[in-house]
Parts: sequence; structure tokens; C-alpha cells
Amino acid sequence: MRDKVTVRHITKKPPGSTPLTMITAYDYTAAMLADAAGVDMILVGDTLGIFALGHTDTIPVTMDDMVHHCRSVARAHPKALLIGDLPFGSYHRSVADAVDNAVRLMQEGRCEAVKLEGGRERVPVIEAIVAAGIPVVGHVGLGPQSSHLLGGNVVQGQTADQADGVVADAGAVADAGCFAIVVEAVPRRVGAAVSEEVSVPTIGIGAGAECDGQVLVFHEVVGLHRGESPRFAKRYADAAATIVDAIAQYCDEVRERRFPDKEHSYLMDKDELERFRSR
Ligand code: KIV
Repeated sequence: MRDKVTVRHITKKPPGSTPLTMITAYDYTAAMLADAAGVDMILVGDTLGIFALGHTDTIPVTMDDMVHHCRSVARAHPKALLIGDLPFGSYHRSVADAVDNAVRLMQEGRCEAVKLEGGRERVPVIEAIVAAGIPVVGHVGLGPQSSHLLGGNVVQGQTADQADGVVADAGAVADAGCFAIVVEAVPRRVGAAVSEEVSVPTIGIGAGAECDGQVLVFHEVVGLHRGESPRFAKRYADAAATIVDAIAQYCDEVRERRFPDKEHSYLMDKDELERFRSR
């Protein structure tokens, strides 16, 4: 049995050590599977809006949605560090509101850390949440919660000025107290520059191999997602095909009266059956 992963395990990894692994999970079953695979960190991402709730983006996800799904994941008691995403609108109105919502993810959602998107503009919020005793993961580069402002989920840091901005954002959130930083959808060189700049681990998603770790979405890794995926997503299995095939076989067997068979039926004691029949 492996040891419980804590924030200390994530931060104390020396540079150049084995890359960290993170995957999303939105419910108990996915969390159990991810944990059985030995992942270091499980993120209850606000992408649950897309992959679990069927929205087209993450904007409609509420604090209640996040708390509900975090609780489900937490019931798997993963050895992986459990991180919950603060959704759109939950840390933008005031610092006090942000702290209250981070507390909810810890207290009601049973998370062990929270993640929020943004750079220099988020420093006061990050400082206040950390001051409340809550570990925070930053998220720089592409922040899908700002996709309307950005004109879509587009790669960030493509010009030298923008690249400088991403590096400055990462430095600011690290200085504000983040213990790790997700870096999303930036050129590989920018991911590398961020990783060199900050002393906390960087977890890349479309940010190249020089990050200190990688994160992907569960449904895209196992092939449960049928729609389009971004370039950075890699599918390692076709779970959707396996599941559709299993359900189709079940339907065939029911329609052909091959299921339920003797093995899957409750049988009666012979004498009791005789008595029952004779009535
Ligand atoms: O919400 C999410 O799933 C994320 C990851 C893609 C990093 O933020």
C-alpha cells in the first residue's frame, strides 16, 4: 500500500526528479480507478461541467456542483492528493467570498487543496486563501474560465510579450504562496521558462515536457470522450467502445432471452418448489 500523498510530498521533490502525475476525476468510481493506477494528484476540475454535466464549457459550473462532485471523489479516500477547482465567479467578487468558497471546498467537499485560474491579478485572493491555511494550486497560461475574454480557448504566450506575461504571472502566484502551478496551453519553450523561473512544481497541460509534472482529463485519457479534444490530449484507451459493446451485448441477450440465465437467477429449494407448484 502506498503512502498518502500530501502537499509536502509535492513541494519537496527536488528538480530533475520523476515528473509528477495529475488526472481529473469527477466521481467516486473514477477516483478509485485513478488512485489504483498510482496517480500523485487527483483534480476535481471544473471541466466536470463538460465531461460530467454536458455543458459546452466550464462557465456554468457552480460551487454547489463542485462541492457535490468533490464529496463523491473524496469518498474514494484516495492516496493521491485531492485538489478541487474553484469555479467561475467563486473567487472574482471579493477576497472574503473567495476565502469562504475555498473553505467550502475543504470543509464540505473534503478537498486537501484548491486550484484557481489567473496570474498577477489573483495575488490578493491567493494570499488570503493561503493565510486561511488552505493550500492553493495556481493556474496560468490559458484559463478556460476567461475564454470569452480571450476569444476562445486559444494557445497563450505566443508572442515574446505574452510569453513574458505568462512567466510574470507564474512568478506572482508562486510568490503569493501557491505550492504548485498548472500551466495550460502555452508553447513548450514558455512552459520550460516558467518551470525554470518558479521554485514550486509546474504541472503542464499542453505546456511541454519540461514542466515538473503533467495533468490530463480522465475522460480524454481513457477514451470516454466522443467529441473533439485539444492537441495536447492523448487517448490511452477506448473505454467508450468497450462500454458500448458491453451494453449492446446485454441488450442482445435480453432480447434473445439469453439473459438472465440460471447463473444469474435465484433458485428455489426443490421441495419448496414442489409445494409451491401444487398450490
Ligand atoms: O478543470 C480542469 O480539468 C483543469 C485541468 C484541465 C488542468 O483545470
